[in-house]
Amino acid sequence: FFADVELVPGDPILGLSEAYNADSRVTKVNLGVGIYYDESGRIPVLDAVREVEQRLAAEAKPRGYLPIDGLPDYTRATRELLFGAESPLLGAGRVATTQTIGGSGALRTGADLLKKTLPHATIAISNPSWENHRAVFGAVGFDILDYTYFDNATHGVDFDGMLADLRRLDAGTVVLLHACCHNPTGADLTEAQWREVITVLSERSLFPFIDMAYQGFDRGIDEDATAVRLLAESDIAEFVVASSYSKSFSLYGERVGALTVVSATAEASRAVQSQIKRIVRANYSSPSTHGAALVAGVLGSAELRARWETELGQMRERIHALRAGLVEKLAEHGAPEFAFIQDQAGMFSYSGLSRAQVDRLRDEFGIYAVGTGRICVAALSLRTLDYVADAVATVSRG
Ligand code: LMR
Repeated sequence: FFADVELVPGDPILGLSEAYNADSRVTKVNLGVGIYYDESGRIPVLDAVREVEQRLAAEAKPRGYLPIDGLPDYTRATRELLFGAESPLLGAGRVATTQTIGGSGALRTGADLLKKTLPHATIAISNPSWENHRAVFGAVGFDILDYTYFDNATHGVDFDGMLADLRRLDAGTVVLLHACCHNPTGADLTEAQWREVITVLSERSLFPFIDMAYQGFDRGIDEDATAVRLLAESDIAEFVVASSYSKSFSLYGERVGALTVVSATAEASRAVQSQIKRIVRANYSSPSTHGAALVAGVLGSAELRARWETELGQMRERIHALRAGLVEKLAEHGAPEFAFIQDQAGMFSYSGLSRAQVDRLRDEFGIYAVGTGRICVAALSLRTLDYVADAVATVSRG
């Protein structure tokens, strides 16, 4: 059966962590995968999460199955975080949220749903986009198009190019949009630009599929949900949001994500949810309990929620400070041309480094970045800033 199976290359992001782990150099730094590390180089356990975890451990509840679509307290809290608790969409019963296996599981379940309702499904993704977007939608059989997004010259969004490309798409095309902290570029739309994009989506009858993996990592819970909130207020009656708590709760391995589908009516919403449950049941049956119980426990308590928001704010502020620090150190090492890093948002920066320069970073300095030049700023620390800045300045000269 397997004699002729082809060996395929490792994952462009997670494969880097494997190589990093195998690297014996003490000075190694992993700026590949999108994970926030604290100043001591550890993935933080948030206080609010620890408190719920201790309570859960003390209760030692039986381990039954969750419902197919997940823990109800979790899905309700997720809807409220995405749209705001007072959103009329929630009251109207038009929003169906399903707990998924991380943000990737949300993308995949959403892709399966859309493939069923749009048999000739085409999706347009930003150029560039997170590597796994292409893989997930490709695996479901979508035709995949790119729309212009990033301007290599300005290191920001090529907004005119983006609008022009969106206007060219056929009606019914699914458009994947990053709500905030664009992965991999760190270049985001302003609120005014979101309004323009939504007008084009509406005029051209395009279907918005929002990926929001970093809510709270740039400006705040509500601010980072601008795209979702504007869509909710718009005349677009149907759209999808894939969201994740991996980063905002520092719960990466717990795989805490959600698929949220907005339908035109409560009746349609119930039908959509029934389809999603069928997809999930045939795929992994039902989600796992622990991470969802942690998130629901935090979001369900006013005190713990406030504590979480403070901790999230601290992570966000530290990333801003690391960006500023990196830019400063790069300038000190003779590379002032990286000032744009400070204007980018979220965990990542598209550094503009070439594949050859990324290879040099790894081979000569033990610094791991994605081959496209994406670096995870949130994996830096005050201890590594100078070393990384020196190395980046060195390879960018050569
Ligand atoms: C990333 O882009 O590094 C993260 O979203 C982790 C992943 O699964 O790729």
